[in-house]
Amino acid sequence: MNAHPHAGQVAQIQLAVVHNGIIENYTDLRAELACDNVQLVSDTDTETLPFTLAMHMVDEQESLSQALLSVRKSLRGSYAFVVQQAGHLDTLVATRKGAPLCVGLGQSGGRGGANYVASDPLALAGVCERFMFLHDDDVVELTPTSVTIWDSQGAVVQRPVHMLDLSAEASGKQGFKHFMLKEMCEQPDVVSRLLQSFVAPDTQTVNLPLSGVDWRSVTQLNVIGCGTAFYAGCVGKYMLESLAGLPVNVDVASEFRYRKPPFVKGGVFVAISQSGETADTLAALEHAKAAGQHVLVLTNSPNSSMARAADAVVNLQAGREIAVASTKAMMAMLMSLTLLALQVGKARGALTDAQVATHVQDLRRLPTHLTALVQPDAPLNVQLGELAERLGAAHSMLYLGRGWLAPLAAEGALKLKELAYIHAEGYASGEMKHGPIALVDRALPVLNLAASNDGLFEKTLSNLKEVEARHGQVILLTDEAGAALLDDATRTRLTLLTLPNVPALLLPMMFVVPLQMLAYLTATAKGTDVDQPRNLAKSVTVE
Ligand code: M6R
Repeated sequence: MNAHPHAGQVAQIQLAVVHNGIIENYTDLRAELACDNVQLVSDTDTETLPFTLAMHMVDEQESLSQALLSVRKSLRGSYAFVVQQAGHLDTLVATRKGAPLCVGLGQSGGRGGANYVASDPLALAGVCERFMFLHDDDVVELTPTSVTIWDSQGAVVQRPVHMLDLSAEASGKQGFKHFMLKEMCEQPDVVSRLLQSFVAPDTQTVNLPLSGVDWRSVTQLNVIGCGTAFYAGCVGKYMLESLAGLPVNVDVASEFRYRKPPFVKGGVFVAISQSGETADTLAALEHAKAAGQHVLVLTNSPNSSMARAADAVVNLQAGREIAVASTKAMMAMLMSLTLLALQVGKARGALTDAQVATHVQDLRRLPTHLTALVQPDAPLNVQLGELAERLGAAHSMLYLGRGWLAPLAAEGALKLKELAYIHAEGYASGEMKHGPIALVDRALPVLNLAASNDGLFEKTLSNLKEVEARHGQVILLTDEAGAALLDDATRTRLTLLTLPNVPALLLPMMFVVPLQMLAYLTATAKGTDVDQPRNLAKSVTVE
């Protein structure tokens, strides 16, 4: 059984541990404890911690914090844990490596005589406002009136104190049924905030804080992320290649870190992460940094481990995202990558000032378009609600798209899987006939994504007809101009979902919204836990 806290007692020393992450060498620790005739009651890695620490305290006659300073050197893995000793209940001792841990300072926060430790400041929203973020291998000892931190060398150190206003997050769903719905509805504000922060109102130039990269000499960009952040990176590839003429490799972080890819000298490495704490992305980033790459991080958590390790940080400023499914952070990623493509395109001479200014003016209209799109009673959302009722009975679904719509198809499928627990595949449309077409039958809904102005619409239509010929349930999400290209007979045969016509640069940020909404509405129709889907964590801090 793995229910925390896990307790362990050796002689008079009794300890309890709460642990996030994994102790990779726990079988070695178990074997050592077995040699000392210590009996564990579970098979968990966590349970080795209280016993190993207690054994050390007994053998070496050390205090809990001294024992942790010694024992941490023998621990392998990615973890954060907190220990408490019976008889010393006013003291907590904690450490971290690769998993987040922060200290909340309560004394001047209106609740005198208390300090806190948590994996995320949000857990302490409404409790304290001042936070310290621990570094890897730090050990901290907290009492109600003191905080002592030792660094990886065992020296007592101070970590900077950050003031965080979490009151908005603490105030809850603000009338929305779910955090996810609230966060989808915040997307227009997210875009406005990024435009305000990174675009000069007078010159219309883009000024992301990229810290002195000479973009003319950059020959290739490596981009990594996990899940939704990975798909944002894949869309970013299309933007950077087409607008800035810069070759881009995008990788799933967990693959990249073990692939040992050769790095180009002076290369730029971009890590994308809402939380800034995803273990695979962090490890890949550190790998790239060790290889001398200039590391740029796009994150919604400017105090995170990734932000601290980066050479430059673009703060996504989406505001705290609480729902496990990433929506407004995805919007901020897509928007930041668009701005990055404009800034890099300009720096490389691929775009003129006038072209950038025109694109920026188009982007300034995006919040208005998004505001219309997220209204629950918008005609498209009413239609999505009807479709969601139908999808609730589906066992599987296919999402298809070409070009930058291919990763958005995968993102739509990911959202449906995680929220509505319906198996879904996101595919590049052209790949359909290489395998997935075998799945098509009357029971399979196939959502085709198609934009009228990318030169690929006709090809998408022919894919759609292939699905139709095999009696699949055809759904088409396109813009008004795309819808106008359909003949009447085709229109009547499919479920047509229509977005307004917008300039091409805005399309990724527009298409992603109905995909989020469809997954949300299908999940609510099925009655699944929208904000906290089963088996998922908001921040995946273990491999
Ligand atoms: O915090 P990160 O952006 O690094 O998280 C990456 C993924 O775990 C995350 O996007 C996940 O796929 C979401 N649940 C998707 O909605």
